[in-house]
Amino acid sequence: MEYLVANWKMNLTSSSARALAESSAKIAKELTHAQIWLAPSFPLITPVAEELRRSTPGTHRVRLGGQHVHWDLSGAFTGEVSVEQLRDASCDFVIVGHSERRQLFGETSETAALRTKAALQGSLSVIFCIGETAEQRKTKKTNEVLASQLGPLAALLGEDDPLAELCRDIAASTSPTTSPALILAYEPVWAIGTGRAASLSDIGEAHGFIAGWWKEHCKVPVPPVLYGGSVSPENFFSILKIPLVSGALVGKASLTDESFAELAKIADATGR
Ligand code: PGA
Repeated sequence: MEYLVANWKMNLTSSSARALAESSAKIAKELTHAQIWLAPSFPLITPVAEELRRSTPGTHRVRLGGQHVHWDLSGAFTGEVSVEQLRDASCDFVIVGHSERRQLFGETSETAALRTKAALQGSLSVIFCIGETAEQRKTKKTNEVLASQLGPLAALLGEDDPLAELCRDIAASTSPTTSPALILAYEPVWAIGTGRAASLSDIGEAHGFIAGWWKEHCKVPVPPVLYGGSVSPENFFSILKIPLVSGALVGKASLTDESFAELAKIADATGR
């Protein structure tokens, strides 16, 4: 199964989001080996959920998710959103630890792990993002950075048996009707939104490192690992051919019908 995840970031309004959701639902009906997941900004979740309910058939359901979540159940946290609120708005998943949250809003690997725990406990799947900056790559710190970003998450799964069990069960599933509880996304910071995706060999090496590190440090099987960073219809096929890449987290190319439909076709054709 390939996962095509659209991160719409702080873009669109309710009418353009509804239109994209409608076309995504149409595309999803044709897919056998790929799933479409959409992450609109918070005010657009409800209009998109309404549109998806109207237009998506059960088995090829488009998954809906948030771009961020808080770890507390509720309370005085201005600007934050809870797991319960996301679930109440029909979300299936949440993106955690995106590099824009890390770079611009002080997200750390520890807070990202806390958000992951709360989301998994509240039955939201999590897309957990990691990736190095250009400087870190230049100074050959990529593997060290990826390991440090995964560390708190692995520790959490190590000490929480019910959570680990949940990830173990759902990681094994490849059916179009179920979703993994946990997905990782390797997104080199310098490739995001620049039009310059990482080279195929850099992606392959990073994914190999992530899988190896995970096997050594975590008792849960390696989750699906996506690539993100300037994915486009031109480069997606070659990226999906890299062993261990299970799909993509896509920003810019998810914002128009045409390019997103192309990406979905490629994901379905290469899906295993
Ligand atoms: P991009 O964004 O596809 O526009 O590079 C990817 C992401 O930030 O997840």
